[in-house]
Amino acid sequence: MSEASAFRILDDADVANKRVLVRVDLNVPVDNGRVTDDTRIQAVLPTIREISDKGGKVILLAHFGRPKGEDPALSLGFIAQEVASRLGKPVAFAPATIGPVAEAAVAKLQPGDVLLLENTRFDKREEKNDPDFVAALAGLGELYVNDAFATAHRAHASTEGLAHKLPAFAGRCMQEEIEALAKALEKPERPVLAVVGGAKVSSKLDLLGNLVAKVDILVIGGGMANTFLAAQGKDVGKSLCEHDLAGTALEILDKAKAAGCEIVLPVDALAATEFKANAPHRVASVDDIKPDEMMLDAGPASVENVVARLKGAKTIVWNGPFGAFELPPFDTATVAVAQAAAELTDAGGLLSVAGGGDTVAALNHAGVADRFTYVSTAGGAFLEWLEGKPLPGVEALRR
Ligand code: 3PG
Ligand code: MG
Repeated sequence: MSEASAFRILDDADVANKRVLVRVDLNVPVDNGRVTDDTRIQAVLPTIREISDKGGKVILLAHFGRPKGEDPALSLGFIAQEVASRLGKPVAFAPATIGPVAEAAVAKLQPGDVLLLENTRFDKREEKNDPDFVAALAGLGELYVNDAFATAHRAHASTEGLAHKLPAFAGRCMQEEIEALAKALEKPERPVLAVVGGAKVSSKLDLLGNLVAKVDILVIGGGMANTFLAAQGKDVGKSLCEHDLAGTALEILDKAKAAGCEIVLPVDALAATEFKANAPHRVASVDDIKPDEMMLDAGPASVENVVARLKGAKTIVWNGPFGAFELPPFDTATVAVAQAAAELTDAGGLLSVAGGGDTVAALNHAGVADRFTYVSTAGGAFLEWLEGKPLPGVEALRR
């Protein structure tokens, strides 16, 4: 919203006594049924509160994980409680997204009430942006507010389709994200260094190909790095890796070379044979990984490489941790780079922007999130925004 008038926002909506469908991103990191980082929940509270305080009936739509059809393990039921405790008022839950059960729950709502519907992705038609599913969702509400910037790169029924069926507005989180990212990164000072890590390998490989044309240095970490190392002929043992994407990885390296973008891959790793906290491990060169070992974090020489590049950079954009940061000590590289970025930001020489569920969790874990210039709730959406791609969920909100 570089020009605030380009989008319809909450100020333009008359929500009193209306049923308001509010798409939020509640795809939070969870461990053993416990929310390990609540940044995405906190981020949507202002919108929920504002609509509720103005007498609207808030109907929350959200996805959780990547279910293939209905999957009790990915029900949003437990999240209703998590939202309620932070909101300071009850949040009802309907174990259905559309149909009679959802309709009955909506019919019970009084002005100011809040209801969460079941995981939108339990219905296959959600991700297809299927018109019948869109119509069924639209029938539940009178207005639509999209506050899910983190899911705005998906043209799904609840993130895009609905905006064409009901009067549609950007929520406060959506509005703030777009404004803040534009302000920080519209004309980034160079060199720009991007860090892309994490475990969602295949879905982010494509985007790397575009990113190399936009940034000066691309640091690849996490599971994604293993795919590149394997493509270069290294034995990655039992590490997370998508061997069938070797061709794509090599193409990206070629593209980077042509674009003058330096690619930084790990040179060493913390290697272990078990995926658990405090698993016995050793520092190993990426040329010396044993067949039964997994690289669970970048090693000290890799961290030193990244920090050295960072010292010469003016801007860092970061999505995805370097290792299995939820299992100490495999958080070491992520924490070290996060601290270096925070110190350089404090010193005034670096503009730092990071985004994504796990990334934000990792920065909070490192205790440095508030020292970054800006932290976004969005991971994939943030990267696509960086690529310069129009985000379907955002575009649909234009006036
Ligand atoms: C995210 O976690 O990046 C968003 O919630 C989108 O999830 P997705 O990558 O499964 O579409
Ligand atoms: Mg994510």
